[in-house]
Amino acid sequence: MCGIVGYVGDKNAYPILIKGLHRLEYRGYDSAGVAMISDEGRLNVYKTKGKVSALEHYAENKDISGTIGIAHTRWATHGEPNDLNAHPHYSENGSIALIHNGIIENYGVIKTMLSEKGYTFRSDTDTEVLVQFIAYLRAENHCTLFEAVQAALNQVIGAYAIAVLDKDNRDEIIAARKSSPLVVGIGEGEYFLASDATPICEYVKDVVYLNDGEIAIINRHKPLKVYNLNNIESKIDIRKIEMNISELEKGGYPHFMLKEIFEQPRTITDCIRGRINLEGTNVILSGILDNKDKFLNARRIIFVACGTSWHAGLIGEYLFEDLCGIEVKVEYASEFRYRNPVIQPGDVVIAISQSGETADTLAAIELAKSKGAFVYGICNVVGSSIARATHSGTYIHVGPEIGVASTKAFTGQVTVLVMMAMVIAEMKGRISKDKYEAVLRELLAMPESIKHILAQHEHIKDIAAIFTYARNFLYLGRGYNYPTAMEGALKLKEISYIHAEGCPAAEMKHGTIALIDNEMPTIVIATNGSVYEKTISNIQEIKARGGKVIAVVNEGDEIVSKMADYCICVPSVEECLTPLLSSIPLQLFAYYIAVNKGRNVDQPRNLAKSVTVE
Ligand code: AGP
Repeated sequence: MCGIVGYVGDKNAYPILIKGLHRLEYRGYDSAGVAMISDEGRLNVYKTKGKVSALEHYAENKDISGTIGIAHTRWATHGEPNDLNAHPHYSENGSIALIHNGIIENYGVIKTMLSEKGYTFRSDTDTEVLVQFIAYLRAENHCTLFEAVQAALNQVIGAYAIAVLDKDNRDEIIAARKSSPLVVGIGEGEYFLASDATPICEYVKDVVYLNDGEIAIINRHKPLKVYNLNNIESKIDIRKIEMNISELEKGGYPHFMLKEIFEQPRTITDCIRGRINLEGTNVILSGILDNKDKFLNARRIIFVACGTSWHAGLIGEYLFEDLCGIEVKVEYASEFRYRNPVIQPGDVVIAISQSGETADTLAAIELAKSKGAFVYGICNVVGSSIARATHSGTYIHVGPEIGVASTKAFTGQVTVLVMMAMVIAEMKGRISKDKYEAVLRELLAMPESIKHILAQHEHIKDIAAIFTYARNFLYLGRGYNYPTAMEGALKLKEISYIHAEGCPAAEMKHGTIALIDNEMPTIVIATNGSVYEKTISNIQEIKARGGKVIAVVNEGDEIVSKMADYCICVPSVEECLTPLLSSIPLQLFAYYIAVNKGRNVDQPRNLAKSVTVE
């Protein structure tokens, strides 16, 4: 939820920290701050409400010297976003500074204890309590910073990724994680630290992902040391990052979101690459083949996910029931984790997450595992917590998604789900050769089909201009296109702040139709397929009540195009592939409306890219 960066080495820390914060700004942008030990040995802490650019402005003409520092960009949990609550927080004696991503649940008890001992607090945050607690334990026990951090973390309840600096030790950062991600980059005489690999990849390729309950001693003169909370040393598992800097830049587009929408022909290609044999006749997914029995004998599949990934799970429900004949449940991870869900032998849980760090999804996975389920992951971020917590899985390989509104990850998730369903359906003998070949052929042609839709961006932009006035939108779809309608509505809400509702088209007449008037436009996905005619009736119901209709139809459509006020055409494909195409114009539509309204498309208000707190 917040972004953490750290550096210790022989370079000037400040530019590295600021650049890193910019890369992590998608994780939170309420306030930002930096703590560095200056060349003169002072602990300088600069922090301010607002974005990283506000911090840069604030730090102008201040002492930004020093080769060791930590920095933070915040998405507020405890305390409103203001200068005081911004991180880093520091101990009363000004010697220890700390940044934190997560929530300390028992901070109240610790704060009371410290207050009784005379400690005072400047902010409303749980994080300041943690740094004061560490300082207190250090003074009480006359121990090192590492020992004090370890002792403190043994007593706190909650989620954290932290980095701690001690004014009297210019060589060392102490970092620890539990339920919030942290990765250490290893260079020559220098170390980098971050919430994910994006701020690190331009400097080093060797990284270590800390595991839950681990504390790292990052000392510029020494090899990296990692211990658990019981002081047992961990084995260092060095991984290579394969991230390209150009993937982290806008590449000439005004926003990451637009770049990511336009990247989809390539990201779908990357997603299917190596998973379809050279002859183009077979899908091969090692994660499924390695666990063939689990999927062949699956009594039920339960998807757990949040937000857009949950919408992908809904499409998974249609796919796995339709192609594989397996019963499917789709669960909000946040609800699943707090129920007492019935998991029986033969249940397979599939967790979907772009970031691989969503706290609710992670907790749902742990619950499913504790009940004996086999858990499969569909993630984008390689080495993420969910990728590591699941028994097996498939990466979507769409590259870093920086725009807060998920676009290319969604189509990547759906692509993986289609491939999984095809493999399982074939293993079960449930799909005809003709159907299998047709789906595969169209999947291979998907990048071209998407290009075809993207080429209509000016047309979609014009329609968006006409409807930018609207205060409410309805999105309708049936069958495979119902989840796509939900996803279209979510895209519009999150980046334009216009209220939008996604609804199964036929369900509209059970209530939602009361909202229809000439000021509430409806987007209807009415592509060919088993429910095409039914959807036509729904369009008539809207038109009869004076509603405006923007329809997503197949090229050559002659019926809906005469009824709708505006049409956007997509190529005709097998029904199970329609979400991959219908979602593209909805992404563009939401984007252009948000731009017209002057919204911050990549960093919409109140949101953050990965939700690592409850
Ligand atoms: C999508 O546009 C969202 N911003 C959000 O709903 C997101 O999909 C959700 O938070 C889940 O994230 P994850 O895929 O990283 O787990």
